[in-house]
Amino acid sequence: MNMVAQLKGAARFTVAMPRSDDFDYWREQARVLVQCDIPPDHVSWTEPGGTQDLFTDTGGVLPEPADAGKLVRAPKRFLALARNAALHSNPQRFALLYGLLWRLQERPGIMQDKADPDVRRLEELDKNVRRDSHKMHAFVRFREVRETAENGSNVEPHYVAWFEPDHHILRANAGFFKRRFANMRWSILTPRGSLHWDTETIREGPPAQRSDAPEGDPTEDLWRTYYASIFNPARLKVSAMLSEMPKKYWKNMPEAALIPELIASAQSREAQMVSAGEREVRERPTSLVDIERGVDTCRDCPIAKCGTRTVMGEGPSGATLMIIGEQPGDQEDLAGRVFVGPAGQVLDAQLQRAGIDRKAAYVTNAVKHFKFVQRGKRRLHQNPTAKEIDTCRWWVEAERAIVKPKLVLALGSSAARSLLGKTVSVKQVRGAPITLQDGSELWVTVHPSYLLRLDGDARAEQEALFAADLAAVKSRLAEVA
Ligand code: URA
Repeated sequence: MNMVAQLKGAARFTVAMPRSDDFDYWREQARVLVQCDIPPDHVSWTEPGGTQDLFTDTGGVLPEPADAGKLVRAPKRFLALARNAALHSNPQRFALLYGLLWRLQERPGIMQDKADPDVRRLEELDKNVRRDSHKMHAFVRFREVRETAENGSNVEPHYVAWFEPDHHILRANAGFFKRRFANMRWSILTPRGSLHWDTETIREGPPAQRSDAPEGDPTEDLWRTYYASIFNPARLKVSAMLSEMPKKYWKNMPEAALIPELIASAQSREAQMVSAGEREVRERPTSLVDIERGVDTCRDCPIAKCGTRTVMGEGPSGATLMIIGEQPGDQEDLAGRVFVGPAGQVLDAQLQRAGIDRKAAYVTNAVKHFKFVQRGKRRLHQNPTAKEIDTCRWWVEAERAIVKPKLVLALGSSAARSLLGKTVSVKQVRGAPITLQDGSELWVTVHPSYLLRLDGDARAEQEALFAADLAAVKSRLAEVA
C-alpha cells in the first residue's frame, strides 16, 4: 500500500515536532498531510516537552507522498503570519495552522476575512510573538564577564545576558543579535535554551537558569546612561513606558533602578518642554542598534503601525557611500531586509554594472516601515507623504551621523526629500552633487522601481541615464576614498 493510501486508512495521525519552533518542519508535514487528504480532526501535533495525546496513534515522520504533485495552496500572508505564530507557546498553534491551511484549500480568500475566528486567532498569535521579539530586542542586557586564560592572561571579555521570553523566539532572533553585536563574544541564556556567539559561529545550548547568568557589572552604568538619555516624557508617557517594560523584565534591567526617579521628574520635564515650545528634545542615538530600537518603538507617524516590522538599513557603519531608497516594499517587509525585492534586483544589477560594491555601502530607506493598502491578497505599495518622510528624517539623520558617509546616493524623490528637507525635481538635480550641511555630497537619481515600470525604448533610455548617474558616483567614490 502506498503512503497516501496508508494515511487515508489511518484513523488518526500524530506528528511529533522535533523542535517547538520548527516552522519549516511543520510546513513540510502539513503539505504532505494535505496532499494525503488527512482532515485536521485526524491529526494531532506534539512537541518536545508537551503532553502526548494518549488516545492517538503515533505516526512518526511522514515520507514524501506518492501524490507529491498535488498543489497545496498557502497564500503569502498566511505563510508570513504562520511562520511567527508557530513560535507561540500555545500548544494548539500547530493544529490551528493546519486547520487553517486545510480550509484555505477550499476557500483561498479566507485570509482577507477579518471576521474569521481562525484568521483572527492567527493574527493574535503573530502579534504576541512579534511583541515578544520586540521585547527581546529592547530588553536583553549584557553583563561583562572577564575570564582568565590558563596562563593567567586576560582573554577577551564575554557578555552574558539573561532573558525570559514568553514564546519560542530565541532561535528566530539569533540573526538580530549576531548582526548587532557581531564583534562581541556573547551568550543569551533563557529558560527555553541558550545561544552563544564567538564572533564567528553561533552555537545553541540547553535551557539555563537565572542563577547561571552573572549579576550586575560596569556595563550596567552604560545602560543606565543610555536609558536616562532616551527617556523623553514628551514622546513616551510614563504609563506607556511601564506597559512597554513589564515588571517581569525589571529585575534584569539596570535602568529599572531609574524608574522612580524618572517618574518623579517626568511631569516637570514635560512642563518644561511644553513651555519651551519644543516638539521634542531627544538625544541622538549613538549607535545603529539604538536607532533600530528607537524606530521599533517610534509612533510619530501612522506608517509605524503598518507592515510586519521595522526594516533597518544595513551595511558597514563606516561606509563611504550611503544609498537611500524610499521605504521597504512587500518583500523587504517580509524578509526584514532592505532592497531584496524586484527593485533591489534592478539596483544590484546596476550597481554591479557600475562597479560599485553594494556590500561596502550602507543601504537604507527614507521611511523604515512598509506603507500599503490591502487589495485582495495583495499588499499594494503606497507612497509615504511628505509629512511622513519628514518625520522619519530624524532617524535618517541619526544614521548619517553614525555612518558618516562621504557620498549619499538618493534613489527617487522621497529619498531626496529625506536628505534635503524639501521636494526637488529629480530630473533637475540629477547628474551633479549637492553639498549637505555636514560636508558630504548628495547625488540624486531615480528610484529603480521607476525603471521597472517602463519598457522598450523608454526603459533603455532611463536605464542609460541611471547607469550614467551611478558611473558619476563611482568615479567620485574613487576620488574621496
Ligand atoms: N524600495 C525601496 O525604496 N526600498 C527598499 O528597501 C525596497 C524597495
